[in-house]
Amino acid sequence: MKSREILVTNALPYANGPIHLGHMLENIQTDIWVRAMRMAGHEVHYVCADDAHGTSIMLRAEKEGITPQALIAGVLEQHRRDLSEFGVAHDWYSTTDSESNRALTYRIWKALVAGGHTESKPVKQLYDPVKDMFLPDRFIKGECPNCHSKDQYGDSCEVCGKTYNPTDLIEPYSVVSGAKPVEKESTHFFVKLADFDAMLQAWLKEREREGGLQSEVVNKLQEWFADGLRSWDVSRDAPYFGFEIPDQPGKFFYVWVDAPIGYLSSFRDYCAAWNARRPDTPLRFEDFVERDDAERMGTEMVHFIGKDIIYFHTLFWPAMLHGARLRTPTAVHVHGFMTVDGAKMSKSRGTFINARTYLDHLDPDYLRYYLATLLGPTLADLDLDLKAFEDRVNSHVVGKWVNIASRTAGFVHKFFGGKLADALPPEEARRYASAAERLSACAAMFEARDYAAATRLIVEVADEANGYVAEKAPWLLAKDESRRAELHVVCTLALNYFRLLAIYLAPIIPTMAGRVAGGLLGTTLCDFRDADAPLLGREIQPFTTRIDRIDPKKIEAMIEASKESLKPAEAGPVVAGAAAAAGSTVTSAATSKSSPSDPRPAGDGTKAGADSAASIISIDDFAKLDLRIGKVLACEFVDGSDKLLRFELDAGELGTRQIFSGIRAAYDDPPKLVGRNVVFIANLAPRKMRFGVSEGMILSAGSGGADLHLLDADPGATPGMPVK
Ligand code: 2FM
Ligand code: ZN
Repeated sequence: MKSREILVTNALPYANGPIHLGHMLENIQTDIWVRAMRMAGHEVHYVCADDAHGTSIMLRAEKEGITPQALIAGVLEQHRRDLSEFGVAHDWYSTTDSESNRALTYRIWKALVAGGHTESKPVKQLYDPVKDMFLPDRFIKGECPNCHSKDQYGDSCEVCGKTYNPTDLIEPYSVVSGAKPVEKESTHFFVKLADFDAMLQAWLKEREREGGLQSEVVNKLQEWFADGLRSWDVSRDAPYFGFEIPDQPGKFFYVWVDAPIGYLSSFRDYCAAWNARRPDTPLRFEDFVERDDAERMGTEMVHFIGKDIIYFHTLFWPAMLHGARLRTPTAVHVHGFMTVDGAKMSKSRGTFINARTYLDHLDPDYLRYYLATLLGPTLADLDLDLKAFEDRVNSHVVGKWVNIASRTAGFVHKFFGGKLADALPPEEARRYASAAERLSACAAMFEARDYAAATRLIVEVADEANGYVAEKAPWLLAKDESRRAELHVVCTLALNYFRLLAIYLAPIIPTMAGRVAGGLLGTTLCDFRDADAPLLGREIQPFTTRIDRIDPKKIEAMIEASKESLKPAEAGPVVAGAAAAAGSTVTSAATSKSSPSDPRPAGDGTKAGADSAASIISIDDFAKLDLRIGKVLACEFVDGSDKLLRFELDAGELGTRQIFSGIRAAYDDPPKLVGRNVVFIANLAPRKMRFGVSEGMILSAGSGGADLHLLDADPGATPGMPVK
């Protein structure tokens, strides 16, 4: 197959706070893809930048008594360091506050103006008369017009989940000065998105056909088209930290205009650096960015983003590009949000974990592996369950993979001068070829972003390898001098299994895989095709690389350290509490207003960060629970467990469900529960337990142990009925 040339980006983190694990989810997802595509033989250029403009950054710098430039320069260094220590190998990492980004933004804007795709009109907005500035929605608070909770943001209520306009708030106040905002009119500039309706619909259809957009994204887009595309407000009044609009003194580009352009300007800077170093093999910016060149060259541009910023990347961004005769994205890959231990990342619980805090306690490859086991090609949210994280990494990486080498490499040194056998007998050769053949499917799984499927396959082959080692028992063979040749073959095949797995693990855990491959096997892991043939007759090094199991104490220490980092000085946002923390891509689901009726989703660097009151959830959060009535068909003790009862429920339209519930101490005669209606959570991810799969959770009241009491429903409730 012809090698493809691909420009890859992930969303630009805001420059007003540290990288946290929510950012890491996306960066890791993208980095795995980039590495896998390179190992499959494609040419990939991977760039990113800090998203440096906006009101939050301006105000934070002011609060810290420094210039915005000084603030973003410090943050840029931290971001680069954190990401690179996580093994995220951006080829270039820039900032949107650069001259190359200004030049490209102006070029695109001028093309839109020349094409007649812009307009200006007066806009009424809330204004802080003390601070002399217009207030973005997130900088206004007041009483919710719906549930009357105090101190709610100008765009949505965190208590009842209602979204509204800031002018609907009762007793509104400016978060910046405390003053009562007044309504004021000002001229704003707009991009006429409706001009691009036909072009966007054609792009959507083509991308859908080619697999560049997920079906959930296509559906969302179709809803937006059906509602009609409104003009997009792209200007903000001074004071604002950003690029001033050409010929419009006092008017600045909204941060979301120059943010995605930062993808291209970062790439342009990378091309310049490349061409200075390698003038003989130039990398042409135009080939990836100018519409005609890109079409002629067949280059691709692929974005990875979170589901809260779909609107920007699938409507505004392709429209701006098209209006300036630039190429449109080949693919926009969207991922879901991350929770920790089943809940939104929380500073008070210590689960809002900064990348640096993680790195201070744990190996980054552990997180990369665990997230890979969860990541699929859909927009589903995923959970960093800290216990599962510990168990899975210890079991898969250390127990299954490293174990293969640690049980066999020593014999190669002890009896065979550190050299692998020159050939494999037919049975072993067949085993190797079959494992290599099966694992070759991983390349397509990586490309389809189904890393969960790839890791499942890797684990299956690791199990097969361990089964082989267990069956052949090299430690017994080693005791019998007459069976040396057999021992040599067994260790050679085992180490080749180990290498094969290392090749397919390399995109996921590049540092660990690279370290063992380099140390033990003396090879690099750059190409999936290296898996085709086993390593034979080769001298290997002693297996000295240590890959430790995760020590749960380190996880606890990380959580404790994350709690400590809630100290006010460090939380440090300018606007109230944690709400202005670093433009989190994790927590914005409930606040995102990505709808055509409001073309200004919470994207001014002011997205809500960690929850400030851990115990408050919105109605949307509650609505995520699919609570149902289940009729107990069977209930019994579970052999080997002193805590669990096994239930079989009639769940009506959902069929029957098996659920293990930890209420044994409270019910000593389980069959007596048969026939009762209970309440259970139907959409909890199935959990594989030692005794079987648990498909939900039965609700009970009480403090635990014997003090647990199942909930009842009045007569009339029938199996499968939703509980609201
Ligand atoms: O949502 C965010 O965190 C934004 N800083 C992402 C920008 S991505 C791109 F468009 F620049
Ligand atoms: Zn409310």
